[in-house]
Amino acid sequence: MKGLILAGGHGTRLRPLTHTGPKQLIPIANKANILYCLEDLRDAGITDIGVILGDVMPEKVRELLGDGRGFGVRITYLVQGFPAGIAHAIQCAESFMGPEPFCAYLGDNVLKGGIRPMVEEFEAHRYDAEVMLCHVPNPEKFGVAELDGQGHIVSLVEKPKAPRSDLALVGIYLLRTSIFPIIHDLKPSWRNELEITEALDHLRVQGGKLKAHIVTGWWKDTGKPEDILEANHLLLEDIERKIEGTVEAGARVEGRVRIGARSVVKAGSVIRGPVVIGQDCIVGPETYVGPYTSIGDASRLVGADIESSIVIGEAVIETRHKIVNSLIGRYATIRSADGRLPKGQQLIIGENSSLFL
Ligand code: TTP
Repeated sequence: MKGLILAGGHGTRLRPLTHTGPKQLIPIANKANILYCLEDLRDAGITDIGVILGDVMPEKVRELLGDGRGFGVRITYLVQGFPAGIAHAIQCAESFMGPEPFCAYLGDNVLKGGIRPMVEEFEAHRYDAEVMLCHVPNPEKFGVAELDGQGHIVSLVEKPKAPRSDLALVGIYLLRTSIFPIIHDLKPSWRNELEITEALDHLRVQGGKLKAHIVTGWWKDTGKPEDILEANHLLLEDIERKIEGTVEAGARVEGRVRIGARSVVKAGSVIRGPVVIGQDCIVGPETYVGPYTSIGDASRLVGADIESSIVIGEAVIETRHKIVNSLIGRYATIRSADGRLPKGQQLIIGENSSLFL
């Protein structure tokens, strides 16, 4: 079986962060989203992987993944360019797949529990497709599947007004070459995209057997800033304490906190886990880093107060304004413009931005 990771898309809901790179590279708990997808495929024994590239700085994806050897896989890049839909992205991989079945995995999804059981089930049966589903409170926002008593899909509708179940299609599909002629015949939807939900429904109508696989851990689609912060929260729940950097006298590091090599926590600072801090960071003096925060490599936090946030990396934060539920882009600078009392501040800040609060 081969793998396919989709790293195209517009990423409009994540602007300004997606002005300077694909959303699949945004780090969550200090690791690029796409790497969680790649590891799920690899851990299910899938090492021959195609990566779909879009038109938002695709070179950054190549830079991170290279030929895949560093991650124990082999990567072939497939250029989609303009995002004409998930089914269109899959179609771009037709010749790469050859006769093999494959797992298509949206590069902005994070899943707890991996895909191995799903892949094993698919390989042991003759299903025409197997689709990962998750119970959600708001199914009308997703593609929704309805099942029979044996876990087979009997209907599939994209964003239904009156959903027939609470089972949303998450972005993981096991497919065979039988999907390609169906995609060839698809017409663009109202949003001018070739829809995978529609292709799967056509497969079903033609007599194809579609199996459902329901998420047992948790799943997060990281299309919006609040989803990324929630995924960060969920991933940080599982980290272990590991201090590689230096904690100076007079600083406190409490609970499950990971601090990377050459990072220094200076006097008067408090770090309250779960928190990850990358390499070569300076935290302090007099800085508070609260639970569910990820600080990327080479960041400098001086007299800062931050919680439930992601600092992507190489940023400077020198303000006592409390920063919460925020996503701070690479090379961003946040300083105080005056000495007013701190207030909670939510920020979504792109690369190279400077802010004076
Ligand atoms: P979406 O999040 O549905 O779409 P988008 O990336 O265009 O985002 P937005 O709505 O904020 O503008 O895409 C789901 C995943 O599929 C995501 O990882 C991007 C990928 N994708 C492609 O690779 N090619 C495409 O043509 C589309 C539409 C999405």
